[in-house]
Amino acid sequence: MPQPTSYADYLRSTETVTHEVSTSLVVAEGTLPETLRGVLYRNGPGQMEVFGTKYDHPFDGDGMVTRFAFTGTTVHYRNRFVRTDEYLAETRARRMLYRSFGTNVPGGLRRNFLNLRFKNAANTSVVRHGDKLLALWEGGLPHWLDAETLETRGRYDYQGRLRNQTSLIGRMLSPELPFSAHPKLDIETGELINFGTLMGPTNQLVSYRVQPDGVMLAPTFTPLRALSFVHDFVLTPHYCVYFLSAVSFRILATLAGFSTPVGSLAATAGAAASLLLVPRNGGIPIALPAPSGFIFHFANGYEDERGHLILDAMRLETLPSAQMVHDVLAGQDVSIPPTLPTRYVINPVTPSVSQTRLTACPADLPTTDPRYVGRPYRHFWSIAGRPGQTTPFYQRILHFDHRGTETTRDFAPDFPGEPLFVPASPEAPEGEGWVLSLVYRVADHRSDLYVLRASDLATVCRLELPHHVPPGFHGTWCPDAVALLCVYGTSAGVRAKASVPQVEIRFLKNLDAVADAHRRWEHGRLEAKIARVPSHDSESVDWHKLAQAGTRYRTATP
Ligand SMILES: [Fe+2]
Repeated sequence: MPQPTSYADYLRSTETVTHEVSTSLVVAEGTLPETLRGVLYRNGPGQMEVFGTKYDHPFDGDGMVTRFAFTGTTVHYRNRFVRTDEYLAETRARRMLYRSFGTNVPGGLRRNFLNLRFKNAANTSVVRHGDKLLALWEGGLPHWLDAETLETRGRYDYQGRLRNQTSLIGRMLSPELPFSAHPKLDIETGELINFGTLMGPTNQLVSYRVQPDGVMLAPTFTPLRALSFVHDFVLTPHYCVYFLSAVSFRILATLAGFSTPVGSLAATAGAAASLLLVPRNGGIPIALPAPSGFIFHFANGYEDERGHLILDAMRLETLPSAQMVHDVLAGQDVSIPPTLPTRYVINPVTPSVSQTRLTACPADLPTTDPRYVGRPYRHFWSIAGRPGQTTPFYQRILHFDHRGTETTRDFAPDFPGEPLFVPASPEAPEGEGWVLSLVYRVADHRSDLYVLRASDLATVCRLELPHHVPPGFHGTWCPDAVALLCVYGTSAGVRAKASVPQVEIRFLKNLDAVADAHRRWEHGRLEAKIARVPSHDSESVDWHKLAQAGTRYRTATP
């Protein structure tokens, strides 16, 4: 019989991680799938304090990235804190020096009044794109990490694109442009699409496009009436869709030090919730009235055959106050409104928005099959609570199938983290594969990585970690490349990279670079393939077959 939720147990899971380790993991149960090969990266707060000064909000803890390398027969594990400038400075000073999203520095107004020294926590997610592994935090720049050792290489500004050049006041308030922790990979183009919300003389939503080779195009800006708290978005073929709730940051209260950013959130005067549709082709944004509520996360979204937009969101009736969150971290028995999976259907022509609850099961941290992001889809997975539950401690994993079935697995008294779906193979049907979830084991004060069968959430194997990992946020799966394909010429191959995730495609400028990549193909298991594909041919090429076929391949003479 599952044990009741315990605040004390949950709080113990947030204790500081004191060791950075590099070790092989023990398979304690089941058998490793031989075909599960690649690297899982996860991010989350590794400490909820700075030398004894507690953070007041779970979003503030210093980012610690974990890395699990699956070879088919072994799993190698490593964890490392992100060495942000702020983390290093506080480690040297042995005290809290910076304000955070939900925590002011000790000392009251004397130390917080007009104090613009905010910490980049680098703690929310991690993404690998364009040969860069980046730790993400929505309030500022990403941090570039070594993909193998997790060493921090520094703040990453995409060749200066993330330096704020909007205005002098804008630069003073926010010298770095924010890059959210929920970028989306466009599976058609291989581009990484992301956004940020920027305070300034005019509050703005910043839109980013990063090409498959990692080069960011010039950001575009959409004025916002108020600085809404926007954490995630939906990418469809034609739109980026944002839910703007009726709460916004009170910037002056934050800057004056009276409040933290999250503590300053308040109802936007005279405003209701709205949906903002930003056309991806640069057209005029469309704002639609929306039902009330607050959304941290979307499971997915798409455009149907009628041209309607379908959004599946984890909806809160209202955003829990900073005080409620603080009380939870202080161990008080607080009722938090549940996040309920909800479908929004938008007709952008009439225009109209409808809202339907998908299930009574509270759920959050949803993931979907990455090959179906922004497309009609069937499955999502999430952490989940019991129907009617009002505590924030979700101890189940949910598999929701839009064809009418819900499967849950209860881990109580333990706490599972975001269940990340991994397809069984690049060609496998949607939803066939595994979900990976890091589970905090209460009795042992330790974490296990579970590999579950995605369909029924049965344990495939369980790997024991040598220490606990505090509840984190998001991660990413990077499948092993099975072949290297060097592409050069025009804009060849932009459609290839995402659709063949197990083929590593390098975009190179000339034959010398191709030959060099060929020599340095690090795994040595397979010959590199070389292709010169003019852009008008790229859609007709079966890239996977191309990589698996002969040792050299050309569609045209260089
Ligand atoms: Fe998130």
